[in-house]
Amino acid sequence: MTKNKNTTEDQLSLATQLATAYDDPSGSITPPLYQSSLFSFENFQTFKDTMAGQHQQYLYTRVANPTVNAFETMMAKAEGAEAGVAFSSGMAAISSTLMAFVKSGDHVACVEHVYPDAYRFFEKILRPFGVDITYHSVQDFENDPELLAGCRVAYLESPNSVLLQAMDLPKVAAHAKRHGAMTIIDNSWATPIFQRPLELGIDVVVHSASKYISGHSDVVAGVTVSSQENIQAIRELTLPLLGGKLAPFEAWLLVRGLRTLNARMKNHEATANLFIDRLTSHKAVNAVHSPVPNSVPGLSGRSGLLSIEFDRSVNIEKLVDQLEHFQLGVSWGGFESLVLPSKVSLAQKGEQNSLQRFGVPDTIIRVSLGLEDAEDLWKDFEGALEESVN
Ligand SMILES: Cc1ncc(COP(=O)(O)O)c(C=O)c1O
Repeated sequence: MTKNKNTTEDQLSLATQLATAYDDPSGSITPPLYQSSLFSFENFQTFKDTMAGQHQQYLYTRVANPTVNAFETMMAKAEGAEAGVAFSSGMAAISSTLMAFVKSGDHVACVEHVYPDAYRFFEKILRPFGVDITYHSVQDFENDPELLAGCRVAYLESPNSVLLQAMDLPKVAAHAKRHGAMTIIDNSWATPIFQRPLELGIDVVVHSASKYISGHSDVVAGVTVSSQENIQAIRELTLPLLGGKLAPFEAWLLVRGLRTLNARMKNHEATANLFIDRLTSHKAVNAVHSPVPNSVPGLSGRSGLLSIEFDRSVNIEKLVDQLEHFQLGVSWGGFESLVLPSKVSLAQKGEQNSLQRFGVPDTIIRVSLGLEDAEDLWKDFEGALEESVN
């Protein structure tokens, strides 16, 4: 088919770019799955030159693989980045990215209510390695221009976990630039459909691709996108040496996920809007935590992950056990609706977790609204709620 020469790819909307067929010489509209751990060489010279970095050829899948590269390229395009690198999980993306840029003696400023395992990574791995970590509220990041003085990395989530507080990213990015601090943000909640942090001045974006990017609850994966220089630094250091690479089949599934990301996010948003409209006026609901689109610069929509804070009249255990179309489980961002009561996370044994440290109420249910019919979901939720109010 003739390509419209008057339209460059950059002029197309993101939805069209992501849905556009793969450009393969065979005519295949999906990328080939290179399920191979290594790549062989035609002769001694090309092998030697590749090892010496003077020839570009695939060598070993821990370092690079064509199917994984197809996902990385698509993801970089989605976020408006120069380059991307994929990992075996969101945590591998977060840890490998931080360890590429932070060393002993550095200071990391992290937003409060950060994803609990990111918090554990800071406390259990980075801190014992001699990295100083401090935690700050969204308001402090925005309003204290000196907060990032002497800081190596500002680690952000916007919105953050459970309370889903959104941040004025251009403001924080400007503070960070003035002090030479690198900004890293977890953009798993909004996805590039609703927020493109690099365009707002942020340096590096990380994702748990296990959530909306996959969308089908069948993949655990992560990805980091940034400038060519930053991604190269990760590719040379922590990707090969920590070894958290993404498997080719998972990458293939993630390409498929990206095709439908826009349509899914719009569907999740419509269901979230319906729930928020009806819940905010409910007598037993103290608050619905979900950022209002456009309340901060660059956040144009809301995903289906929200937290409902009830008053003490609601029996949380009874509520979740009454639900028919919501599964009880961790994670989020899939086709299925899920609930996770904060009581479960707060009861976790062992060292103090981030929910306990930053003070999350025990009357919260985090809800991941899936792709089921919104009215079916509401009927189920409303019925269970009515049964559970004392
Ligand atoms: C906000 C956020 N970031 C990162 C992660 C970690 O991702 P993964 O489970 O893919 O390692 C999660 C997982 O729940 C998350 O909620």
